[in-house]
Amino acid sequence: MTYDVAAVRAAFPSLRSGTAHFDGPGGSQVPLPVADAVHATLVSPIANRGSVTAAERTADAVVLAARQAVADLVGGVPGGVVFGRSATALTYDLARTLSAGWGPGDEVVVTRLDHDANVRPWVQAAERAGATVRWVGFDPATGELTAADVAAQVGPATRLVAVTGASNLIGTRPPLAAIAEVVHAAGALLHVDGVHLTAHAPVDLTELGCDTFVCSPYKFLGPHCGVLVADPAFLGTLHPDKLLPSTDAVPERFEVGTLPYELLAGTTAAVDFLAGIAGPEGPRRTRLLAAMAALEEHEDALRVRLEEGLAELPGVTVWSRAAHRTPTLLLTFADRDAGDAYRALAERGVNAPAGSFYALEASRWLGLGDAGGLRVGLAPYTDADDVDRLLAGLRDFTGVERH
Ligand SMILES: Cc1ncc(COP(=O)(O)O)c(C=O)c1O
Repeated sequence: MTYDVAAVRAAFPSLRSGTAHFDGPGGSQVPLPVADAVHATLVSPIANRGSVTAAERTADAVVLAARQAVADLVGGVPGGVVFGRSATALTYDLARTLSAGWGPGDEVVVTRLDHDANVRPWVQAAERAGATVRWVGFDPATGELTAADVAAQVGPATRLVAVTGASNLIGTRPPLAAIAEVVHAAGALLHVDGVHLTAHAPVDLTELGCDTFVCSPYKFLGPHCGVLVADPAFLGTLHPDKLLPSTDAVPERFEVGTLPYELLAGTTAAVDFLAGIAGPEGPRRTRLLAAMAALEEHEDALRVRLEEGLAELPGVTVWSRAAHRTPTLLLTFADRDAGDAYRALAERGVNAPAGSFYALEASRWLGLGDAGGLRVGLAPYTDADDVDRLLAGLRDFTGVERH
């Protein structure tokens, strides 16, 4: 299938402002059907989930539809889809629950590549339990994190390994299936932070082989909430803190309090929007796989255009180098602060923020301290004109004459 970026862009009211958005890794723009679904849910008769009144049934249907939508997106099953406030909050909850079974002598493995949301919850839980934390580095020269890097830190005492599906700072996509083999051979659990990955590539949890996975709809055109996905049978073995009167069913057992029905409806609409890129016919999972593959190809082509343009600019270092990665580039400048580039671009209606974006360990590991660099993230609505405007802005910023 061909990727019709003009048709995709037409669905985003916010793009009419004329701004070129390279800030998608922080949170994507939202297409109209997602906003409409949120609105429709808020203004329709709705109550807490139940089966007696139509309003209760509406809430129930919204939840079940959203579980099915996320399951279709990542290749999971609806009964293993847990909604929460954010990926960070869900990871903290999971870490608290799992670490109840950890103690001195146990080991937990985290990486230097990860967003802090997939580091600190595990480190803090391990410390509280008296377990040891082991760190997996990555090659700062190539940005690669390999299965061998993970294997070097995994052993019989390992209880859990937490690794990202893709770095939100430099885009690296570690080889998850190979890592899963290493982790499972040691009898440990693999938790994957799929927040950045899910926005850019087809995801198949069976292929990835992880035990638990989180992602965030607001990174893939949806509203601000988070999702945890796992095998329902595995979830059934876990006992999170919960209120006495709330159901002990899976996955509800993990969803403390009342769910944000309107955001769940928006999540379903975001998944439907992505699937719709591949057309209206056929099972949603099949359309999603085709659409995400086409999106990946579109974003990769634009990334190459961007990288070729950047190669002509003096004094620009591109830190995103892994062979397998998302279209997210981290840039620094020889004599200038990345924050100056951020502000100069913003004046031209080009949004590409500077920082380390909570990937604090990764930024420090690269030798960039806490400052990071300028992050340029491509998204489903990015087109060649956006890329050319960004390059023109950076040409001016770096002092290169425009022809
Ligand atoms: C890779 C990655 N993991 C985790 C998070 C945190 O997600 P949330 O805001 O849903 O907690 C982010 C947010 O930027 C991210 O990029």
